[in-house]
Amino acid sequence: MELPIHIDRMAAWSLQEQLAGQLAAMMLDGRLPAGARLPSTRALASDLRVSRNVVLAAYDELFAEGYIEGRQGSGTFVVEDLPAPQRARPPRRAGRPRWLEKPAPPPTHMGEQEAAGIDFRLGRPSMEPVASQVWRGLWREIANELPPDAYGPPAGYLELREAVARYVARSRGINCDPASIVITSGSLQAVNLIAQVTLQPGDCVAFEEPGYPTSRAALTMHGARIVPVPVDEDGLDVASLARLEPPSLLVYITPSHQYPTGARMSVARRLALLEWARGADSLIIEDDYDGELRFDAAPLPALASLEHSSPDNRAPGQVAYVGTFSKTLTPALRLGYIIAPPALHERLVEAKRLTDFQTAWPLQRMLTSFINNDRYMQHVRRVRRRYAEKRALLRQAFASLGDRADLQGLEAGLHAYIALAPELSACELEDAARKRGVRVSVIADYYVGAPDRNGILLGYGGLDIADIERGLEVLTGIVRDRG
Ligand SMILES: Cc1ncc(COP(=O)(O)O)c(C=O)c1O
Repeated sequence: MELPIHIDRMAAWSLQEQLAGQLAAMMLDGRLPAGARLPSTRALASDLRVSRNVVLAAYDELFAEGYIEGRQGSGTFVVEDLPAPQRARPPRRAGRPRWLEKPAPPPTHMGEQEAAGIDFRLGRPSMEPVASQVWRGLWREIANELPPDAYGPPAGYLELREAVARYVARSRGINCDPASIVITSGSLQAVNLIAQVTLQPGDCVAFEEPGYPTSRAALTMHGARIVPVPVDEDGLDVASLARLEPPSLLVYITPSHQYPTGARMSVARRLALLEWARGADSLIIEDDYDGELRFDAAPLPALASLEHSSPDNRAPGQVAYVGTFSKTLTPALRLGYIIAPPALHERLVEAKRLTDFQTAWPLQRMLTSFINNDRYMQHVRRVRRRYAEKRALLRQAFASLGDRADLQGLEAGLHAYIALAPELSACELEDAARKRGVRVSVIADYYVGAPDRNGILLGYGGLDIADIERGLEVLTGIVRDRG
């Protein structure tokens, strides 16, 4: 029998794999029907000009997988009970497969843009690196230890949770029990876990407008119906939130440094928000992504810290606080945490277990050592000083432009918002800057509805001083030319 087998000696697959694969395909599609006799190994080897061992090995594999059987003295046959050939199966439905009927995740593509020229866009690398000798020292310590030989606790190793608890008490005023912390792979995983354990399809989630597209998309993927709530210079407009009917199940906010406008939520607003959440039985997701990078402004308490009004109330009840090391170390590490209300904690731990069992041991171990030896706080102090220089440049560059380009949100974090006068279109400014090798983000891209602001965003953390100076010269030059 002539079989249409093609052997490619240059292919990455072995000759045996090619032969077994093609024979199996022929059996499944009916070209080699159930009960058919296969050529002898000697004859097939000669037809294909391969060694007999190749055919023997391929036949052995097909035997082992149950495709063929040997009958005493009469040769090798395709087994009788092979499933019906695919030709005889019902035709595939026209159009999209059923498993693609679910809507695709909303596109965001944040942080994956190619670097271009002097790049102030948000989502680009935006921080000062850790000093290389500190970094190497940390990893040398880990390299001297053998990893545990079993899964660790999904919520994270206790030493790290204790270190994080001490750290948030000191830097954000949050007095929590280490047992209420879950270590996550960055704050994005934290948001996903919270959504996973709280949301049912169609549940309403109030979201800052403009806001952080990545978290918004993640919540949407979990079935949230996103309701944009406006933001002003004091952060999320709680009065608008309170008018929502039915009240939203979750509220996602960035109160320390609203993303992207840079507004800091006033204490009065924070208290009003907490009161509303208690009354509405809603959960607040407090994304404190750059809360520790405060500069000249007085630190405002984390929302989660305001919940601890009595000493016996050691864990927040209405706030799921989400922290990250992405802005102080690097987003590439994927390290974050959730401080959750007690009632939610166990569910989050289970969701974490079902997602990836635990955050990788070397990362947890490294971070514990970093925080406990105070090197982390030293690093944060060092980077704050570096950012102070960069912020001074921004302030200086925009000082003389008055209302035409009003610099905002510089008191914290690593990006600033430049509100432009109505006659200066942000898109035109972005376009003119791009032609001169300077990239900026436009605030309109952070809205789901019609934008009510006209301005650009500058992420300055990762750029060096010389690039910032050159970039600002280009930008302010364009504003002046158009004035
Ligand atoms: C609002 C906001 N939240 C969180 C993050 C950090 O996310 P992750 O911790 O997942 O890296 C960012 C990073 O840009 C952000 O802008």
